[in-house]
Order: sequence, then C-alpha cells, then structure tokens
Amino acid sequence: MQFSLVSGEAAPVSGELLVIPLFEGELGDSAPAPLTAADSALEGRLRAAATQEGFKARPDQSFLMHTLGKLGSDRVLLLGLGNRARFQPEVLRLAAGRAAKAAQRLKATAVGFRVPATDDAAMAVRAVVEGLELGVYRFDKYKSAAREDKGGPKLTRATLSLPQGTERSRALDDALHLGLKLAEAVNWARDLVNEPPNVVTPIKLAQAAQQAAKEGGLTAEIGGRKEIERLNMGMFLGVTAGSVQEPRLIHLVYTPKNAKDAKRAPLALVGKAITFDSGGLSLKPTEGMVEMKTDMAGSAAVLAAMKVIGSVVKPPFPVHAFIGACENMPSGTAYKPGDILTARSGKTVEITNTDAEGRLVLGDMLTWACEHEPSAIIDLATLTGACMVALGNYIVGAFGDDDDTVNSVLTAARAAGEEMWRLPVSDLQKDALRSEVADMKNSGERWGGAINAALFLKEFVGNTPWVHLDIAGPSNSPKERGYLNKGGTGVGARTLVELVRRRATELASQPEPAKAPKAAKAPKAARASRPARSPPRSLRASEPRGLRAHA
Ligand code: BES
Ligand code: MN
Ligand code: ZN
Repeated sequence: MQFSLVSGEAAPVSGELLVIPLFEGELGDSAPAPLTAADSALEGRLRAAATQEGFKARPDQSFLMHTLGKLGSDRVLLLGLGNRARFQPEVLRLAAGRAAKAAQRLKATAVGFRVPATDDAAMAVRAVVEGLELGVYRFDKYKSAAREDKGGPKLTRATLSLPQGTERSRALDDALHLGLKLAEAVNWARDLVNEPPNVVTPIKLAQAAQQAAKEGGLTAEIGGRKEIERLNMGMFLGVTAGSVQEPRLIHLVYTPKNAKDAKRAPLALVGKAITFDSGGLSLKPTEGMVEMKTDMAGSAAVLAAMKVIGSVVKPPFPVHAFIGACENMPSGTAYKPGDILTARSGKTVEITNTDAEGRLVLGDMLTWACEHEPSAIIDLATLTGACMVALGNYIVGAFGDDDDTVNSVLTAARAAGEEMWRLPVSDLQKDALRSEVADMKNSGERWGGAINAALFLKEFVGNTPWVHLDIAGPSNSPKERGYLNKGGTGVGARTLVELVRRRATELASQPEPAKAPKAAKAPKAARASRPARSPPRSLRASEPRGLRAHA
C-alpha cells in the first residue's frame, strides 16, 4: 500500500473512506477536531447517529456512516480506542487493522486516516501504518478468481493526517517507513507460513532466505546434506532422514558497514523450519497434522526480521540467522523411536518420540550459533502443544535463565505489540529428559511439556545468554482479529526488529569503551560491545564451504 503523511487536522484527506479513531468519551464534549469537523459537515448527524447506535468508542466498536456527498469521502468510519488511560500503540494497530478490513469489504481503494493525539506521535504513525498494511493482507492466491471477489478493487492508498500541533518531520517519515517495511516483511512471512507444504519445501525456504538476503543486503550461505554431515549435525540428520525433500542449512549474516562495528559480537537468531511435521513414525493424528505446514513459522519470522534489520534498522553490530530446514516424515529411512543420535555438540540423544523433532534440529542450530560467539541467542519455534495449553492462541511463551536478556525481549515485545509471558526453565523438571542409555532423551513426560522442551534446548547453549520463544500458539490465528487473519500471523518478527533497534540505541548511548581497561568488573552491557574474537580455528575449518552452489 502507498502511504502519505500530511500535517494539520484541517488538511483535506482524500479517500473514499475517512477513518476517525476515538477514545471513550470523545463523542461527547471532548470531541477532537476531526470529529467536530466531520460532524458539522454532516449537520450534527454523525455524532447523533453514532450515539443512537450505541457507539461508545469501546476498543471493539466501530461505526460506519454514508456521507451522502456532504464530505470529501463517501463514508466515515469511527473506530473505538477504549479508555485513553489504558492506551497502548497496539490498541491503535488493532483498530487500524479493523479499518483496513472494513475498507476492503467496502471495496474502497483509498482511505484517509486521522491519527489520534497520543504522547508519542511516531509510535502512533507506526501503529497505524502497520495496522493498515497488516490488515489488508489476504492469502487467496489458490482461490479461483471467479468464485471470489479477487479481481475487484484493492485498498492501495492511505493518507495519514497528523493531530493538531504535530508537524510532519523526519522522525515521523522514518516511523512511517519502518512501519511499512516491517509490516510488508511480516506479510511476506505470513505468505511463507500459509503456502502449502508441497510448495514451501526446505529448498523453497532456502530460496526465500536468499531473497531476504538480497533485499536486506545480507550474505546468504545455503548448505545441503553434505554440509550438514560435514558439520556432524547428527540430530538434524536424524529428523530429515525420513523425507525425500532435501534438507537445507541456512546462514544469513548482516554486517555493519563500519569496520569497528563489524567486529562486535553478533546477535544470533535461530528459527525452527520444519516445512511439514507429520510427527514421523510417532505419527500425528489427522486433526493434529493438518496445520503442520506452519511448523516453519519461527524461521519465517526470523527471515522477515533479517530483511528489515539489514535494509532499515542497520544496527552497529552484526546479526546472524541460523536455520535448519527439513521435513519430519515417516518412511523406511526415517529415524525411529529407540535410535540414539549424536549431536554436533557430542551429546547423545535417545529418541523416545519422533514427533519431538523441533528440539533436535534446533539443538544442532544452537550449537552452531554458539560457535560464532554471539552476545545473545534468540530462538523462535513452534515447539510444543503444551505451550498452547498453557498460554493459548495469542501469547508467546518466553524461556531463559539470563534475566537481563529475557527482560529485554519482553520489553521489546511489549513495545512491538506482541504479547509474551515468561515461563520457567526449571531443573525441577529435569528428570523428564533422563535416559537410561544415552546422555538424554528427546521427550519425557507430558506434564510441563513446554518447559521440558526448553530444558532440552538449554543443553546446547552453554553460557551464552539465550531466550527461547515458543510460538506454537500465536504463529497461527484461529480467526480474524484486528490486523490478523485466520492463518499465519508472522508473530515474532516485530519483537526481533524492536529488540535490535533497542540494542542499537543502547549501544549508541554508551561511552566509547576505554582504551586501557581500568574498570575492575565488566558491566553486563559490555557484552554487546566487547570486541569479538574470531571463532576458534578448528570450528572455522568445519564451516561449510562452497554453499552457494545450492542456490
Ligand atoms: N510442531 C509441534 C508443536 C506444535 C503443536 C506446533 C501444535 C503448533 C501447534 C512439535 O513438533 C510437536 O509435535 N511437539 C510435541 C512434543 C511431544 C511429542 C513431546 C507436542 O507438543 O505434542
Ligand atoms: Mn513434532
Ligand atoms: Zn514440530
């Protein structure tokens, strides 16, 4: 969609639909200027009709009215934002999503949106842009045009007018640009999740990664089975063994232009990329299997974030993405319950359930990520049904022992409008993974399933600050809501981008590290700014070479 920003509430806003968001009570005496203006053009009938229809600007309410030619636009839409005291940008993002969907139903091609006055105009602009762009998203490419209103008009233009006293500025233009790029990337991730598993194979996912790299100015190294073998990723090899689709190893790198920045410790992102999870020989029942094309949602979010990180955020530290893409299938060559696999780290794992495959691939990815000496690792994975039982369809489970890193992710999530809740990675559950014959088993008792999965992953991160995000629930929305459609949501990408933005700001506000280290104890923040050591030679030598051949 094309967005433009204009100053001044009086600015004429072109578009077939004029959108005016309102807080509770603003229909009465405290009406903001855009409402007063529209209402007087309609001879007082807008407020009268909205009041009569019971519109109170609650967060789930909207009110649509035809203007009968009395306003520049055909229709006006009032959007409820709820109580002003409880306002968060996410409220506006959801409301803008509803406006986009309403515009789509009305077949409007252009909307005018009155940005409400809040204490952070840049955040408000971003929320509106993201809500509109995410809200118009549809996945209907496999519907026959004749049976759907596919060929019809599409919402392609939005004009945002700023509240009184707020002038258009560089900061607001930047906010618009970031919001648009981010929402476009999230929609791109949604496409990857919504595409069927016969289309998004590991090879296709690797091609998508290459596309992301091209758009984000990143380097992409793609490896195949040979490289996975060379890296001794025994758990990854076990999971992919049953599939005829070739696995792919994906490594994307964003490097800052400045040579000094490029030497800093990188941030590592890891995404689960099972392009279809049948459960393997521990086959899932039909109901549990239908949605398992979405089991690569973690990697889609990581790739989307990488695009924006490389093309817009450009932080002063490197960011790496590590993805192991494969299918989990049953066959004569599939890995079996009872098999013992040897991880890249050297640990041995007894397979007790082939449906606990995500942690196996991720374990090898985490080991690989750690070898690059990152300042922190964040992984995103549709890992457990148990996390959905605990937190439902809209809340991400966050795990990790490093309080600072977990809290920085939770704070970024809140700012980005993605709801996350911390769960413990407690050793109390550790018996669940104890094996009689190997160092551990891949699946234990049912109780605390999301924690057990996190405990398994923890075995592969050593002392690196690490946060695991279980997105099994929120990666896939059961219904249309705000800017969400039924299906893939792209959850996680917004949080990752926000996290990188915040780390970049923190780094910029830090004093230059002193030449002679006189501080006795290094502050925690120093982790992000310490000069990176190069990986040990032995690991360097085992890096996949000539990976580009697999394009
Ligand atoms: N991909 C699933 C988890 C999942 C379930 C994601 C529902 C999205 C929606 C994962 O690989 C899996 O099968 N987990 C098992 C683990 C169990 C075998 C220990 C689960 O949650 O049942
Ligand atoms: Mn599984
Ligand atoms: Zn899975």
